[in-house]
Formats: sequence, C-alpha cells, structure tokens
Amino acid sequence: MKKTIFVQTYGCQMNVRDSEEVIGLLLEKGYVLTEAEETADVILYNTCSVREHAEHRVWSNVGALKELKGSRPELIIGIMGCMAKSQRGEILRRMPHVDFISGPAQLYEVPELIESIWEERKPMMAIQEKRRQEFQTISYHSGKISALVTIMEGCDKVCTYCIVPYTRGPEVSRPAEQILSEVRQLASQGYKEVMLLGQNVNSYGRRLPSDATGVRRGVTFPDLLKEVNGIEGVERIRFITSHPWDAVQDLFRAMGDLEHVCEHLHLPVQSGSDKVLERMRRGYTAEEYLGKLKLLREKVPGVAVTTDIIVGFPGETEEDFEATVRLMEEARFDSAFIFTYSPRPFAAAARWEDDVPKEVKDRRLQRVLALQERMSREESERYIGRTVEVMLEEPGMGRTRTNRKAYFESNGASAGTLVQVKVEGIRGHSLLGKVNGDHA
Ligand code: SAH
Ligand code: SF4
Ligand code: F3S
Repeated sequence: MKKTIFVQTYGCQMNVRDSEEVIGLLLEKGYVLTEAEETADVILYNTCSVREHAEHRVWSNVGALKELKGSRPELIIGIMGCMAKSQRGEILRRMPHVDFISGPAQLYEVPELIESIWEERKPMMAIQEKRRQEFQTISYHSGKISALVTIMEGCDKVCTYCIVPYTRGPEVSRPAEQILSEVRQLASQGYKEVMLLGQNVNSYGRRLPSDATGVRRGVTFPDLLKEVNGIEGVERIRFITSHPWDAVQDLFRAMGDLEHVCEHLHLPVQSGSDKVLERMRRGYTAEEYLGKLKLLREKVPGVAVTTDIIVGFPGETEEDFEATVRLMEEARFDSAFIFTYSPRPFAAAARWEDDVPKEVKDRRLQRVLALQERMSREESERYIGRTVEVMLEEPGMGRTRTNRKAYFESNGASAGTLVQVKVEGIRGHSLLGKVNGDHA
C-alpha cells in the first residue's frame, strides 16, 4: 500500500508554496496526499513564527499528536518552516515525539529525511544550516487556475519587529530565465493566473545567487512583469509583497501599462506615525507613503490597495495611534490585515519593553478593525451597478482583477473563464451579480 502524507500549512503564501514543493517531491516518490490526519503515515506541519499566536497554534496541535504517536510509533511527524528555524531548541525539548525538523531553506531534503527515518527507524533531529542556492520549478500546485511562483527568497530589510529575515535568511533573487520558463510551463498546463512571490518583490534583481557584490544589475521587477505579461496564456498576474520604500514610479507605470497585471497592490504601511515608522525602521514617512498612493492611483485607475497594520508597537502613544487612524481614513484601503504587536525573538524590537498594555492594544485593534470594516463596505458599495471582469474559480464564484470575490450564476462555464459580471449587491467584502453577455 502506498504511504500517505498529511500536510498542515500555517503562515504566508511563501509557506503555501513551500508545502507545494515538498508535496510535489513526495508525490514523485509515490506517496499519496491525504486529509485524514489520524490515519496518515507522515504528518508534516509547515509553520510560521511571525506572531506568537501563530506559534501557539502549532504548539498545541503538535502537542496533541503525542497520543497518536504513542499508539502508532511508526508514524513520522515533521516540523518544517519558520518555527523549525526559530524554535528548534524548544521543539527538541518540548516535543520529543517529533521525528525531524527542517527549516525553510532545507525543505528539498525532506523526502530523503523521511526515507532515512523509515530505514533506520531513528529520529533525525538534525537540521542542516546549508542553504540551497538554486531555486526549483515545482511539480505540484494546490490551485487549479492560479499558481504561486517564487521569484526570490529571504529579506534584506531590517524592520525591527520582524523575525522573517532571521527565519528566511538574506535576500536572493531567482534568475529571470528560470522564472519565465516556469511561467511558460504553467501556461501550457492551463494555468491562467500567476502570483509572483517574494518578501519584497520590488527589490527583485538586486542580489542574484552567487552574486557577492550585491549591486543591482540586469532585470528589475517592472522588467520581469513586462516579460511575464508577454507569455501567451497568462491572463492575470499578481504579486506580493511590496515594501513601500522600494515601490516606485516604475512599478506603478508597469502596473498601469501592462494588460495582464491586475489592479491590486498590497502595500503594508504598518503605522501612520512617523515616530513609530522610524522606530520600525521602515524608511518612509506617512506623507511619503500617501504620496506614493496618490501617484499609484493616477497611474493605475481603479486600483485596489490593501495593507498591513500593527497596533501597540513599543512606545506607541495615543497620539501615534491617532496618526494611524488618520492615515487609514486618508488612504482608504480596500482591506487591511490588522495585528497587535507581538515581540519576536531575533527581532531588534524584542530588546525594547513591550510597554503598551494588552487592553490598550486590544482597544486600538478593535477601533481600527471597525474603521476598516466601515471603509471596506463603502468601497464595496462603489461597485454596485458597475460591470467587472471576473475569472471563474469554481462554480458560481470568481475573483475580480482587484482581488474581490464575486458570486454569480455561472451556468456551467469552466474554471479560468473570464466573464463580465454586473454587480447588483454586496455581502461583506464580496460582490453579488449577474453575468453580462453570453460567455457563460
Ligand atoms: N514581507 C512582507 C510580510 C511580512 S509578515 C512585508 O514586508 O509586508 C506580514 C505582516 O505581519 C507584516 O506586514 C506585519 O504587519 C505583520 N507582522 C510582522 N511581524 C509582526 C510582529 N512582531 N507583531 C505583529 N505583527 C507583525
Ligand atoms: Fe519583515 Fe520587513 Fe522583511 Fe517584510 S520587509 S519580511 S516586514 S523585515
Ligand atoms: Fe510566517 Fe515565515 Fe511567512 S514567519 S509569515 S511563514 S516567512
């Protein structure tokens, strides 16, 4: 009988893509993917360290596997991803039923690791520090019409709250030729949309593998968008994430000019207070950020801007917080991920006192959540009566170029079909409508 694997993924799109890589390698070796964790031969958790809460869930879920391992000692449990890097000592100490841990830079070794555990029946607690230099084209994608494509790994920024540069290492860009050949392959397999992934896609090309100088040369991110835009069969191009410091006019112009690049930019602002932004080492002021939005909206009419916000950063006063509220009111984000600050090991701010009391953080969180909800609703209402292009993802549901979900009667049209939908109502962040014309 074929061995089964169960994979649980936490965290960002990078992790989703990394899980796809591991699943692809294991499927090639003859494993079968299962959703039944209790009966799986191999259980893999691909973990996230970005906030303490993300880690809590893993501690409790992996902790709960102890019993299963007790009743089925042949079961293999692996912890992969960012926690494998940042919490390896704790995992070894607290989770003796875990068979191996593998950091984000060593995931390609997971199939071999599993094979050797089967053979030798001994735990492989070692994690290698070696980092893979080459990027891989992956053989498994969880999406049917949209595929995730890595364009770079790691992060060279120094945001003082963030653990990612530690867990993912320094920034390295993937050679453009490789990216383009992966996208061509995806298009020939019928994928209609690609999501280009990097922690900071706008610094693409600054540091290529084995490029010790760190000098930007060759292809920039807007150049790359242009190349991908020319690939036959790719209807939509999305990308995340953009750091405001590196997102400049060239990007906005490319977004406006290139037919297949969607009108959506995720541009995390984090705070509206210059003092806080400086202590976060983000490299821009609130005014500079708003200036960029203005330019973006001129170059890309109808663009939807989404963001990330942290409340309760060390030293954040009521006045600082009010500056964030004002920035949100002015920026009018389509949606926002809003977090309370969580001190992270290996991040510079972890040395500073986490001095905003929990109740204050929670109150600030609730206030900006409510504000964003109101503004998201108002932005949604502006769609009513308009006709928008929707790519069908599953029967009755698709997505606009601005990344909104839309529900409508799709009458048997297949996934990946582009339809024009007239919006008649809204439900939360989603649009409700009817198909125009005879596409469907
Ligand atoms: N590279 C991306 C994403 C990084 S993590 C970027 O720069 O946008 C995603 C989001 O998590 C960040 O934008 C930030 O808002 C949030 N985040 C990161 N570290 C955090 C921390 N210590 N506490 C709370 N939120 C955090
Ligand atoms: Fe973290 Fe900043 Fe890098 Fe994003 S850009 S991953 S927030 S250090
Ligand atoms: Fe989390 Fe690692 Fe992504 S910490 S957000 S999974 S890069």
